[in-house]
Amino acid sequence: MTEARQLRVHDSAALVNDGREPWREVVTNDQDRTRLSEWFRPDIAATLALFYLSTAGNEVRRMLRRSLTAGRRRAGRERFARIEDRRWISDLSWSYQLLRGVEKAKTNLRGHDLPPLHWNGAVLMKDPFDLAIYQMLMQELRPRTVIEIGAYQGGTAVWFADLMELLKIDGHVYSFDINTEQITARHPGVTFGQADSNDPSSFDESLLRGLPHPWLVIEDAHVNIRAVLGHFDRYLMAGDYLAVEDTFAPAYYIPFRKFAVAASDRYRVDTRFTDLFGYNICWNHNGYLKKIENQE
Ligand SMILES: C[S@@+](CC[C@H](N)C(=O)[O-])C[C@H]1O[C@@H](n2cnc3c(N)ncnc32)[C@H](O)[C@@H]1O
Repeated sequence: MTEARQLRVHDSAALVNDGREPWREVVTNDQDRTRLSEWFRPDIAATLALFYLSTAGNEVRRMLRRSLTAGRRRAGRERFARIEDRRWISDLSWSYQLLRGVEKAKTNLRGHDLPPLHWNGAVLMKDPFDLAIYQMLMQELRPRTVIEIGAYQGGTAVWFADLMELLKIDGHVYSFDINTEQITARHPGVTFGQADSNDPSSFDESLLRGLPHPWLVIEDAHVNIRAVLGHFDRYLMAGDYLAVEDTFAPAYYIPFRKFAVAASDRYRVDTRFTDLFGYNICWNHNGYLKKIENQE
């Protein structure tokens, strides 16, 4: 067996054995979990159908392609779109290999102190698309405050703080987690704190009220999503951004969308970020919201 072949066998064995997602161990009450049947993805089914029907001739192919893309083009004209006009669909060509490859790069600690993707000694739990999107967002927004909900080891919080230094942004990062013992990263521009998404009032109100705007708030704990977003909505002001992570997954998209629809007079999806690489080519489908109006 050649060396390359041995490597492939080793990798796929690790992939199968290491479905572990360490942060989930502390999730105690995820009120937003949903039924497996809701994992059905119409875009994947449509792509497979298109592939299957490709033998049926050019006319059928053209017709199907038109019907799949028409809604996206209509929705894509304005930069700031209403959530109701956005579809939960992506131009990303999903595959098991892509999904597991990225998740493995983010989370696979097997046999290493760090997974392959890390920043300055701590896990950087981000897919490549959103990493690129966030740094564009940071350049444009120049937030005075970044609030991360779900710190894990703190690698992403430190990445944001380093980015702020590089961009000469006068700001600070606050990163919260229910389990602060797992945080290994340190940075003078980051304050780590304990909070529990199941009790949104545990995000210190007196602290939040005093933080300078504009804000970038990132929901990445995936717990009690709708209530947490509703809680932060009380403190967010027009011009601030709310990023909700991993909304390619229905369990996270459903509560996110419920919040966004209920608050659609105050928020718009920023398609410059969601569609930077193509319609929702990122992990955070429709997940970059700009607040356009303060709450009455
Ligand atoms: C996906 S990880 C966060 C990754 C991190 N943002 C990064 O980019 O590296 C999710 C985090 O949410 C935290 N978490 C789980 N349940 C929580 C809760 N009820 N309240 C606050 N944080 C929670 C976990 O401890 C875990 O560190």
